[in-house]
Amino acid sequence: MNTIIVKNKEEAAEKAFEIVNARLEAGEISTFGFATGSTPEGLYAKMREAKPDVSNIVTVNLDEYVGLAADDPQSYNYFMEQKLFNVLNFKETNLPNGIASDLDAECERYEKVLEANPVDLQILGIGTNGHIGFNEPGTSFDSKTHVVELTPATIEANKRFFEKAEDVPTHAISMGISSIMAAKEILLLAFGEAKADAVRDMIQGPITEACPASVLQNHPNVTIIVDEEAASKLK
Ligand code: F6R
Repeated sequence: MNTIIVKNKEEAAEKAFEIVNARLEAGEISTFGFATGSTPEGLYAKMREAKPDVSNIVTVNLDEYVGLAADDPQSYNYFMEQKLFNVLNFKETNLPNGIASDLDAECERYEKVLEANPVDLQILGIGTNGHIGFNEPGTSFDSKTHVVELTPATIEANKRFFEKAEDVPTHAISMGISSIMAAKEILLLAFGEAKADAVRDMIQGPITEACPASVLQNHPNVTIIVDEEAASKLK
């Protein structure tokens, strides 16, 4: 794991953009893996500004809430549309369909999309409980795209995007841990003190399903960009 500690999230976005831009310029990305949430917003803003030609690039996203349609303003489909897809000319964009009538079939369909489009660079955030995607503590490292029940900690953390906690969906479709680990390169960002325990456990803790992100210690090409607060518990 290559860990880069920067002052704040603005510097992190700059550093992340440098890495992304280098890969884009070298033509190394055929499939780009994206995350949602607040963490990658600075990076996405820089990508919008730079407007690289991405007409040969397919995108996949980590997850989507169950029960939210693509045009629901709280959905991750909508988030991606607003933050990136309405400006950048990607060849094809893929997210799970949160309102599929058969969720298991939707997971299988999505896993096939991932198999057909192996991810070259995957952007990740991390949950305060160490989750990646919506793979909560205890998720098997062998997991593929699956339906997950969100933990109270995740619902609590995500309620800021909704009017009230009861509005946060209780389930999501998420790429599994083995689906995420299949990416050739992973770039994970984390900011703020609330992420400090998860960052320490991910980098310096034992590799255990109790901290899903610790699996990244097994990946050959991971860069982690953290601000000083998120790095504050590293020894
Ligand atoms: C989002 C995702 C999640 C988030 C994580 C951090 O697609 O898969 O794992 O990356 O919950 O969320 P933020 O960035 O809002 O702190």
